[in-house]
Amino acid sequence: MNDGSSVAQLAATLRDELIRYPEGAKLPASRVLVARHQVSPVTLSRAIATLAAEGLVTSRPGAGVFKATQQRRTGTAGDVSWQEIALAAHPPLGGVDPATRGAGAAGVLATLTSPPPEVIDLNGGYLHTELQPERALGAALARAGRRPGTWSRPPVEGLPELREWFARDIGGPGGTLAASDVLVAAGGQSALTTALRALAAPGAPVLVESPTYPGLLAAARAAGLRPVPVPVDADGVRTDLLAQAFEATRARLFVCQPLFHNPTGAVLAPQRRAEVLRIARAAGAFVVEDDFARRLVHADSPALPLPLAADDPDGVVVHVRSLTKAASPSLRIAGLSARGPVLERLRAIQVVDSFFVPRPLQETTLELVGSPAWAKHLRTLAGALRDRRTAVLTALAAELPALLPQRPPYGGYHLWLRLPDGSDEREAAASALRRGVAVTAGGPYFTAEAPAPYLRLSYVGTPGTAQLEDGVHRLRQALS
Ligand SMILES: Cc1ncc(COP(=O)(O)O)c(C=O)c1O
Repeated sequence: MNDGSSVAQLAATLRDELIRYPEGAKLPASRVLVARHQVSPVTLSRAIATLAAEGLVTSRPGAGVFKATQQRRTGTAGDVSWQEIALAAHPPLGGVDPATRGAGAAGVLATLTSPPPEVIDLNGGYLHTELQPERALGAALARAGRRPGTWSRPPVEGLPELREWFARDIGGPGGTLAASDVLVAAGGQSALTTALRALAAPGAPVLVESPTYPGLLAAARAAGLRPVPVPVDADGVRTDLLAQAFEATRARLFVCQPLFHNPTGAVLAPQRRAEVLRIARAAGAFVVEDDFARRLVHADSPALPLPLAADDPDGVVVHVRSLTKAASPSLRIAGLSARGPVLERLRAIQVVDSFFVPRPLQETTLELVGSPAWAKHLRTLAGALRDRRTAVLTALAAELPALLPQRPPYGGYHLWLRLPDGSDEREAAASALRRGVAVTAGGPYFTAEAPAPYLRLSYVGTPGTAQLEDGVHRLRQALS
């Protein structure tokens, strides 16, 4: 068992035990809990910290750990009701009302919430620790920690060697991207937010694929932008409708995931790639290319198309590539690349928002991607993703054949399942959770009402394939 899950399991056990304690009661001493639950002192203190963060216990150094009182748990010690008025009276951001901003955050938080340990996670958007290069990350962190200057201030654009690495990684050998075209950002979400804010003013429309990643919709709304949907089919965004959308809205920005699109898994068809760039260029608009899943290619994939940014001399594309998906959600490092004066705009927004990305994380990334362990990890991951996809599809074929997707994905980490007309996807997801499997309802992936009911199934959030099969089995029970 890995550390994270043993902490979560112990926290869950202690949470149950707490029910039997009266308020303010002292918990048994640490050594008693360590012996009783057969865990290390570190695991125990992390589990206690989890409960303390949830407001369930309070820790008094030297005295012990106590069950929190009702007053502490609900946080009603003072009178915070004035905040309701203050928050409601706050001027809406770019014409977007505060309630919408809250709802947008809920969409993102849903994808970041870990289900309880007994629930099979077919919702998660990041690799389970079993799939992460944990040892290589640990070794890279240790080496980075020993580098002289690791804790000094990096250049605001990012470490030159890391920018160089991103330029090569994105553009390929002999590619057209230079290190000076790359900024190091704190993960994809941050890079997308910077791009949205740099390229469109509050109140402006931004064209987005429909469906699309809820975190993008949330970031756009938080920046005061108006997301305008452009439908996606099995070949990626519908370019005929993209041209119409530019004309109707006069938007200057389109956000696109050409590879292993989240949630549909679509890969932009070759003839549409050039079309997207031509249409955007004609509209005088930028294309933000969210290349989030390139390193989640499966071992049986055909050769991948290059990023749109690799074939873009005129600087239409602003490219985002994050390392979180293929390594760890905590390796919050991304390359944000662009050609031309727009780079200065991106740099300015990023510097004002957050100065720079912490140097130790940049140094760790350099150590990781520069070691043979990185290429080895990507190969192992590609094989594991292929096996997991095959396991889910096989389970679906046996249990829920009507939901099998027409084109099996060869990259990414998810399946987009069309439910029968008239199904209630939220009820389906809730019922699945009651059966012990977490799946994602499709609604938050659309800017407005969903055209049909969907579920998204992720196959990277479980320790292995057995849980995937069990998860699909539980889903069938829930849906029947
Ligand atoms: C399509 C897409 N883009 C970007 C992100 C942001 O990822 P990160 O900020 O971890 O790089 C996600 C995360 O789920 C995603 O699904």
